[in-house]
Amino acid sequence: MCGIVGYIGKNEATPILMEGLEKLEYRGYDSAGVAVIVDDKIKIKKCKGRLKNLEKKLEKEKLPGNIGIGHTRWATHGEPSDTNSHPHFNKSGTLAVVHNGIIENYIYIKEWLESLGYEFQSDTDTEVIAHLLDYNYDGDLIEAVSKSIDKIEGSYALGVISEIEPDKLVAIRKDSPLIVGLGEGENFIASDIPAILNHTRKIYMLEDRELVILSKDGVEIKTLEGMPVEKEVYNITWDAESAEKGGYEHFMIKEIYEQPKAIRDTMNSRIMKDSDDIVIDDINLTAEDLKNINRVFIVACGTAYHAGMVGKYVIEKLARIPVEVDIASEFRYRNPLIDENTLLIIISQSGETADTLSALRLAKKKNCRVIAVTNVVGSSASREADDVLYTWAGPEIAVASTKAYTTQLISMYILALYFARLNGEMEVEEYRLIRDEMLELPDKVNKLLEDKEELQKFANNNFGHMDMFYIGRGLDGAVSLEGALKLKEISYIHAEAYAAGELKHGPIALIDEDIPVIALATQNELLDKMISNIKEVVTRGAKVISFTLEGNTDVGKVSDQVIYMPKTISILTPVLSVIPLQLLSYYVAVHRGCDVDKPKNLAKSVTVE
Ligand code: G6P
Repeated sequence: MCGIVGYIGKNEATPILMEGLEKLEYRGYDSAGVAVIVDDKIKIKKCKGRLKNLEKKLEKEKLPGNIGIGHTRWATHGEPSDTNSHPHFNKSGTLAVVHNGIIENYIYIKEWLESLGYEFQSDTDTEVIAHLLDYNYDGDLIEAVSKSIDKIEGSYALGVISEIEPDKLVAIRKDSPLIVGLGEGENFIASDIPAILNHTRKIYMLEDRELVILSKDGVEIKTLEGMPVEKEVYNITWDAESAEKGGYEHFMIKEIYEQPKAIRDTMNSRIMKDSDDIVIDDINLTAEDLKNINRVFIVACGTAYHAGMVGKYVIEKLARIPVEVDIASEFRYRNPLIDENTLLIIISQSGETADTLSALRLAKKKNCRVIAVTNVVGSSASREADDVLYTWAGPEIAVASTKAYTTQLISMYILALYFARLNGEMEVEEYRLIRDEMLELPDKVNKLLEDKEELQKFANNNFGHMDMFYIGRGLDGAVSLEGALKLKEISYIHAEAYAAGELKHGPIALIDEDIPVIALATQNELLDKMISNIKEVVTRGAKVISFTLEGNTDVGKVSDQVIYMPKTISILTPVLSVIPLQLLSYYVAVHRGCDVDKPKNLAKSVTVE
């Protein structure tokens, strides 16, 4: 989704804006632009395509100046084009605006402004803001922003500058992410922390509809009614380095290799070798609270939703509480049966996904208790939920999620164990067994990361196919969905995941020698059934690569290729089996020459509905 950067201060704005936009590339975009005040005049450069195109424009005409805003646009209203790119500006070109979000009533405002004589150049919803600001401008930019905000509905993070008041940058957000960076003699706004981390570690997290006025020497935050707002300064402890590629060819492969550490960090000090306690600092759910909960909903999008499917399985199995798992964009519109006896767990890497946040807010309205499982400290999800369980994956930059997923799985296990211990469903011996197995997972993941030859061979032989099938039963079915999603996202191969037993009810009609089948067979109690399913597709000509646990040689006998994984208990296998599936997608995508970290049409953080 769109990215915003803004700068005011002692240094030249353009290089800082460009550097910030580069750090936000992961969010997905199809055009980019900057506006800088040069010698008291706003100068705008913007164009379709990658930041390189914008760089070329800026080489031809430099924009020296100490205040500016920048934007990467992921098209929603109007095709990707030079004209539709941000920043947008008023007719006289005296003010410029960048926007992330969607103005839902823009048609109404546009028609009204047109009736007043305003002319529109682009097809975007954002341009109405530029003209609305112009309409409301009466010598005071802050007042113009406040008045304009009153008129607009929808989601927004906005950065506004005006050449008439070149000493300030005004920003505001609602339902779209925006942070403020505090420097010495300089201040920043950005959609995400990595954009400004080379310049400051001091951050303000903004709440909805807080108006921010940045000058070179200070930052003032007010409510729309003009009341001053006191803010806590967040000190960012992680390094800009951890948001860099560090010698790897792509962020995705770096993040795949970071999984042993991410998993260890997520378990660290929560479940411990010599302790029977599960310590979750930011969750205050008591045994009494849990007693009153008769149903759990897990709500999320994309990869996080797939982690939720595993969550359902383990919470039901270990804590014996019924769990429904739902896609956030469906949940919010189906009038779900939830009340004060419902526990809602939302899972979101970014903590900013629009649909997931709406589900959270709906649940809060209905008095549900809400736990957020998120990777971003200070994200909207973490602030709005009653309890938080952070995944300590570190910044995830590649659009296709990998280490966020495995740490989300770990969080699901931790929650399931926590509930099971709290409601008395689990004896301490059983807890110890699962805990000890969990603590061995980082080493087992490491081992899997070393064994990549077979996967590279598969990629080599199969990257030209246009369709692939993923099959599995039980938890393997949930991981198959995630494996297929990874392949689609980054290699653009059509990949379909099916519960293996369901194949014969339709999809087997598609199976032939042109469709490789990826079979997951890690659930020992379902092994015989899975072997039969593998045989069914082999009989129809498919080439099968299977993933199973060490010792299951029967699976190897019926498959063309087999990957043996370290043994663990059945409920924990998703953490292991997803690793070779991630690697497999990666190698296939690289073979196909795809832009692995920034797949077409996708965005890392989907902040619009
Ligand atoms: C987008 C990303 C996915 C991600 C999903 C949910 O679709 O491309 O990788 O799984 O959003 O994001 P969240 O930040 O809520 O986990």
